[in-house]
Amino acid sequence: MKLFIVTGASRGMGAAIAAQLLGEASHTVVCISRHENASLAAAAKQSGATCEQWTADLAVPIAVAARLQARLAGFGATAFTHASLINNAAMLTTIGGLEGCSDEELSAAMRVGLEAPLLLTAAFLRATSAWPGERRVLNISSGLGRRAMAGQATYCATKAGMDHMTRAVALDQALLGNGAKVVSLAPGVIDTDMQVQLRGADAAGFPEQAAFVRLKESGQLTSSVEAAARVVAWLERADFGSVPVADVRDA
Ligand SMILES: NC(=O)c1ccc[n+]([C@@H]2O[C@H](COP(=O)([O-])OP(=O)(O)OC[C@H]3O[C@@H](n4cnc5c(N)ncnc54)[C@H](OP(=O)(O)O)[C@@H]3O)[C@@H](O)[C@H]2O)c1
Repeated sequence: MKLFIVTGASRGMGAAIAAQLLGEASHTVVCISRHENASLAAAAKQSGATCEQWTADLAVPIAVAARLQARLAGFGATAFTHASLINNAAMLTTIGGLEGCSDEELSAAMRVGLEAPLLLTAAFLRATSAWPGERRVLNISSGLGRRAMAGQATYCATKAGMDHMTRAVALDQALLGNGAKVVSLAPGVIDTDMQVQLRGADAAGFPEQAAFVRLKESGQLTSSVEAAARVVAWLERADFGSVPVADVRDA
């Protein structure tokens, strides 16, 4: 029996990850987004897997983390042989300089993209510390955590923070007898709403806008289903965690 928690599972790559994980009857998948996705409930019904969909706003992450911790405690230590948290949800801000965004928008993007993954990771580690099974945290990062881009400073900051948080948590967990394995993984460039937002942005203040248009036009975007398959394959690797900051294109 395996447990997966997937944030941002309502659409995009997160929906495809959740759908893939729901293909096995022995899997329980807890999905966390502001909206539900009816196709995930249908996938669970078909396979016999268990799907919980929480409608929750990760821009208000303390309450979601507390709910996750309580839910995990309710399962009990021996319910699952494997438990994995996939921090996938993220948001772009209005594309352009910081000064063009409201403080509310900037703060929400930091909370969804960095504070929520940190708090959910803390809740997961606390609640499962005595679980005897394999525990994994997979943070979905981006090449933009490693390469700066004009027009998206907040997103770059969340992903760079996510990468370095992962490195530090990996060191913490390595001190423990049955520490969790953690990875921050860049998933490639994926054909989702996020790319629509980037292509549709005003090129003023966003010099790479045309490059995002070209990626789509030249067929270089990975489908959500293919990207999800690569991410799930990474999660299942026997050596998961041996490199805490990785890129799916290195597989
Ligand atoms: N697409 C790319 O080319 C690309 C490249 C590199 C990295 N990534 C990363 O891959 C991951 C998935 O990206 P994607 O392209 O699939 O994104 P997407 O299509 O924009 O989907 C984002 C997901 O996050 C959820 N979300 C956003 N704000 C939320 C909030 N306040 N509370 C709860 N959930 C929230 C959304 O659900 P609701 O709207 O229902 O809340 C949605 O399910 C992200 O971490 C992204 O940074 C993507």
